[in-house]
Amino acid sequence: MNTSTDPTTRAPIIRTVADLRGAVAALRAEGRTIGFVPTMGALHDGHLSLVRRAAEGGAAVVVSIFVNPTQFAANEDLSKYPRDERGDVEKLTAAGAELVFCPTPDQIYPDGFSTTVMVDGPSQGLEGQIRPTHFAGVATVVAKLLLMVRPDRVVFGQKDAQQVAVVRRLMRDLHMDEIEMVVAPTVREADGLAMSSRNAYLSPDERTRSLALWRGLEAARAAAAGGERDADTLQRVAHAELAAQQGITVDYVRLVDADTFQPMKTLDRDGVLCVAARVGHTRLIDNAPLSPGASH
Ligand code: PAJ
Repeated sequence: MNTSTDPTTRAPIIRTVADLRGAVAALRAEGRTIGFVPTMGALHDGHLSLVRRAAEGGAAVVVSIFVNPTQFAANEDLSKYPRDERGDVEKLTAAGAELVFCPTPDQIYPDGFSTTVMVDGPSQGLEGQIRPTHFAGVATVVAKLLLMVRPDRVVFGQKDAQQVAVVRRLMRDLHMDEIEMVVAPTVREADGLAMSSRNAYLSPDERTRSLALWRGLEAARAAAAGGERDADTLQRVAHAELAAQQGITVDYVRLVDADTFQPMKTLDRDGVLCVAARVGHTRLIDNAPLSPGASH
């Protein structure tokens, strides 16, 4: 199998769990450590930043591209989720990935599949309330992928802060202590909009309206940096920016504990201000980590 890192050669695409295991074993036999980045494809610079982070220290990076059906509810965008395998593999190769795992659904969920991983605590509230089956789908596929790849390091994006909290809890609860979990910062467009595969759905007008999420987070961040510690006030400051923008429906603006995702009354420890809003038919989420320490 070709595992060259020459950027003119595309990283090999692997489609079965058996081939994945073999390819990872071959890399380990060469003395490489393994970094892993799970994705659903339609890759942008946010995803690629995770690949570069996973490669630090010379790790061989495995990236999975799998649009996981179990984390989409019936009314969601599974069938129209953007897909571009060829373009994705080119971007991944240029970013230094060495193996790309693109399984078919039957590889991940063969006939008779009956196991679901449910993480209570941080799955409740916010996204978990609006999308009740979402995090069970995420936790199940992430647990499976981690057991298939068995990396030394796995990298997730802060963009999906609640997913980070759910996976952190899952890895603790299932004793996956030998895997280092790294959380990489949210990569944004020049004007502040968080990169997301779903941004492709936005019309130019909706794209402009979406910036209200960033303005809300920035306003709350400025208030926190100025010493504001009251959660209601921080939420109100952010909400005011969203409410001022026509054509946006706010799902929530909430300050939660970064680890447990339980609502906070006071910013007296690390928190995350989470926002979700609908712009036309597109649902966007974003967040700002806030801490009571020095302004940042
Ligand atoms: P996906 O939405 O493709 O995201 C893959 C990874 O990229 C996640 O860790 C996500 O947080 C990160 N990411 C997305 N946008 C980012 C940005 N702007 N900056 C930094 N990182 C960003 O999240 C999933 O897929 C799935 O739920 C998955 C974990 C693959 C399980 O199916």
